[in-house]
This record gives sequence, structure tokens and C-alpha cells, in this order.
Amino acid sequence: MSHRFLAIVVLCLASAGPASAQQPRWWGPAVADSAMVVSAKSEATRVGLDVLRRGGNAVDAAIAVHFALAVTLPSAGNIGGGGFMVVRQADGAVHTYDYRERAPLAATEDMYLDAAGDPVEGLSWYGWKAVGTPGSVAGMALVHERHGSLPWRDLIEPAIRLAEEGFVVDPHTWASLEGDATDIRQFPGAAAILFPGGNPPPIGSRLRQPALARTLRLIADGGPDVFYRGEIADSIANAMAANGGLITKQDLAAYEAKERPPVTFDYRGHRIHSMGPPSSGGLTMMWILEQLETFDLSKYPFHSAASVHRIVEAMRRAYGERNVLLGDPDFADIPPEAWREGYGTALAATIDTLLATPSAEIRPELFAAVVPTESTETTHFSIIAPDGSAVASTTTINGGFGSYMTVAGFFLNNEMDDATIKPGVANAYGLVQGRANAIEPGKRPLSAMTPTIVEKDGRVKYVLGTPGGSTIITSVTQVLIDAIDYGMTLAEANDAKRIHHQHLPDRIEVEPFGLSQDTVDRLTTMGHTIRFRGGYSGRVETIEVDFEHGFLFGRSDLRGGGLADGF
Ligand code: DON
Repeated sequence: MSHRFLAIVVLCLASAGPASAQQPRWWGPAVADSAMVVSAKSEATRVGLDVLRRGGNAVDAAIAVHFALAVTLPSAGNIGGGGFMVVRQADGAVHTYDYRERAPLAATEDMYLDAAGDPVEGLSWYGWKAVGTPGSVAGMALVHERHGSLPWRDLIEPAIRLAEEGFVVDPHTWASLEGDATDIRQFPGAAAILFPGGNPPPIGSRLRQPALARTLRLIADGGPDVFYRGEIADSIANAMAANGGLITKQDLAAYEAKERPPVTFDYRGHRIHSMGPPSSGGLTMMWILEQLETFDLSKYPFHSAASVHRIVEAMRRAYGERNVLLGDPDFADIPPEAWREGYGTALAATIDTLLATPSAEIRPELFAAVVPTESTETTHFSIIAPDGSAVASTTTINGGFGSYMTVAGFFLNNEMDDATIKPGVANAYGLVQGRANAIEPGKRPLSAMTPTIVEKDGRVKYVLGTPGGSTIITSVTQVLIDAIDYGMTLAEANDAKRIHHQHLPDRIEVEPFGLSQDTVDRLTTMGHTIRFRGGYSGRVETIEVDFEHGFLFGRSDLRGGGLADGF
């Protein structure tokens, strides 16, 4: 801990005074004054901090954290999946990267439908056909080439060690394995990796992954080529061919990670940079916040019916647009005006401040019977480096343990389920989507991942993102609303209960204890349907920069088992 840091802490405590019973409001999150890493696993956070201590920038640390999560968070961390990264260089330049999975070249629009045209249950979720061509390794290589300052191999080495020596099974890991044990046992490849003794490894034991260690070593030595053209590509293509999967060596060789234009917009004096298509995150968040900017939200108390109503109506309208308009920009004709700042403002014109608008009246073309289920896994990490560079990155294999299919010690995604399996039919997150997200060969399924960096007065103010399927966008948006409109610290905003509306199903989803009965009654009178969720969704990993003292505050969502730490 630096002298400056200690001095400021002493000063702040002194100025609070012994007579003041009030703690500083920033007491609670991790506090540092030079660098901060927040990820869903303590081992990965420490790996990132080590890289920063060795002089690496935020992207160096992000690559190391990404690979460490592939070992220590097998349900979501990955080399067999994809993701997005928002990078803000030390000089302020912002870049966004897309390493989302692609549909196989042999994919067809109706590949998950039976002869009668109905979705075959589970086909886009479990097994070899659910897998999109993985993008993570290409993505890490691209951001390394563009921004990396430390050798590629050195950034993967910590992950190799964690796979070889094993990581300690903590209660969160155990719960994730135990909770999914029935599915895992059905797939011998998955069980061999996760249940080496036949059962979920006990808390406190070490989970070693020798096959994954070998694969990571190949990637460390051979770079992305070994994954997309070499030995690992052979293993993936052979397993696919033997089991009715569609991914070939041609799919792998053709995969490209891409830089995409960021979605950048202003919200009440803050400049927000987030991910554009093929993620829907940035634009949908922009449309929600632009609608809310037409109200003085802070006039209505936090989580009052008047505030929740306005937020929900904005969410409903933004998701309606998302579900109709958005898809992979290399394929879908996204109307140019939808990208422009101000598109969301117009959506607010139809908001009735007293009554809920039925979703059937907004984008009625999406209206259909919906069978939603609960979301499972993905992971986000946030980093600020001593040089001032920052990264927000969200990565996934979609469902927990993806398709449950494994090759060379790692799990393959089931990202194809994010595409429109059939227009008007809900996916695993209850999202009812349109033709813009229909399956085409080589097309990226639309994502909701929303890695985000926020500036104020030209400096980084917040870095954040979360898992949570379709709730990702509303979780990130609400944390920002709670901080910007309601004056919460980012840690307070992270801890606050969240609500969600996604156009269809037409109801407000509420976290346990998220709204008082009084508020529920008022909202019901206004025409809303309310559903309390069985559990929590989203694990937001946040960093706030305190301009007054130069502190960095990190908060790993209390809903998860991660670690915020810095120096
Ligand atoms: O890309 C997406 O939007 C989804 N595949 C994310 C899945 C997810 O967050 C599951 N987790 N909780």
C-alpha cells in the first residue's frame, strides 16, 4: 500500500471525526490507488494483478485473466466460447473487439426444427449441433497483437499452472458442480473433467485439469494457429465429424476476431462506451437511457412505483427494438438510424406515465406464446492498470458448461441457442427474436453482453459488466442509473436489488426482496404483471474511480463468489 494511499485514508478517517458515527460511503468495496482487477474468481483476479505488477497494461492483464478463468471457472470461462472486450487505452482511445462464435458454414435457418417446423427440444442447447465456432482464442490473439506489451506465452503461463497444479474448490465452484451434477453425469467427457473421482470434488480439494493444461501449453507455444489450423483444430473437427456436429477445419480456419465500432453516447454528463452488434448490449442500453433522459428520474424515489414504471417502460420499448432490428451486422440490415444517438429518445414519446403499455402494442410482430427458463452462466471482468488503461470484458460459453461437449480438456459453447431458432419462439432466456437474428452460415448469433466503460470529464469513471443472459443489459443499465441518477456509489448500486423487463414475456422480473408489497400493488394497478424470481441473476463486476482522492473502488457482486482487489 502506498504512502499516498495511507495518508488519504488517515485524513478521511480524521475528517469523519470520532463524533461522527458515519462511515465514509466508500468503505466497503476494495480500495486501491493504482490498479484494480475484479473478476468472478479470486485466482483469476490475482493472476491479473500479478501481470499489472510486472508492468503489463490492462489488456495484458485481461488476456491472463481470460485464460485463468478458462481453468478456474469451467462453467463460463473458456477457450471454447467467445466474448467481447471494450478497451480504453491510457491515451483515451477506445476500441471494442468481437470474438463472438459464428454459426458453422453448414448451418441452416431451420436446423433446430423438426419436419413439422417445430423446435426440437434441447437440440440448440445440448450436444455437438449446439456449438458455434469458438472465437475466444482468436480474440485474445487480436487484442494482444493490437495492445499487448508482455509476451503472449507469459500471459497464458499462470493458467497452465492453475490447470496443472489444480485450483482449490471453493463453495461457489462446488455449488455450481453439484447443482449441475445431473446434466454433467450424462456426458462422459464433461464428467471426466469435472468429477475426476466420480462425484463433485469436495470443498477444499484441488481440481486438476491435465488435458486442459496440455491444450493451453499448445496455445501458449503455437499461438492461435494451433487452435484454428493445427492440432486443436483437428481434434475439434474430428470430434464434430464423429458425432454429427457441423464445425469443420474450414470453419475454424475461416474464423476471424474483429474490431467493431463502439457504441458511444452521453447520459447526464457521462460518456458511455459499450459493445455494438453482434452484441445488442450497447445499443439497447443506449435506447433505454435515452428514453429515461426525457424524465427527471431522480425526482421519483429509488424503487418507487413511479421510478420503476418509467424504467420498465423504457426497457420494454428498447428490447422490442432489439428483438426485431438487431443481428450480426455482417448479415443483418440494421437501419442506420438505430445506431444514431437520439433513436431512443423518440421511443419515449409513447410512454404513458400512469399506465403500462402492453408489449403486444409495441412491436406486435414479436408477440407469441413464450416458454422462458432461467439463465445460467457467463462471466465478466473489469480492470484498471497503473498506466490508466482499462478493460471491460464479458465472455461466455452461453449455458453453464456450454453444450457439455468437450474436446482436448475444454468445454464447447452452445451459443447457437442465442440465434432465432424460429421467429416468435422464445430462446432459453425467454427472448423472442426476429429474422435479423435468424441462422445463416458463418453468422454470429446476437448477444446481450454489455461490457462498458464510462467516462466523466474525459476520465474513466466506471468499468463494469455482468453475466445473466437477457438480463445483462438491464443489470448494467440499472447499476448506472442507480449511480448516476440516484447518487449511489458503484458498490451500493451493485448491491442494490434489480428489476428486469425484456418486452416479452410481458412482465417485470424482480429479484428476491427487490420491491416492497406497496410498490408491487401500485405497479399492478398501473397494469404491470410482476414476477419475483426464484434466485438472483447477474454478477456485476465493477470499478469506480473516485476523482476526489484518486482511489479505485472495486466491487465483485455479492451475488457471486469473485474477488475485487488492487494495489
Ligand atoms: O451472449 C449472450 O447474451 C448469452 N449467451 C449470455 C449467456 C449468459 O449470460 C448466461 N448467464 N448467466
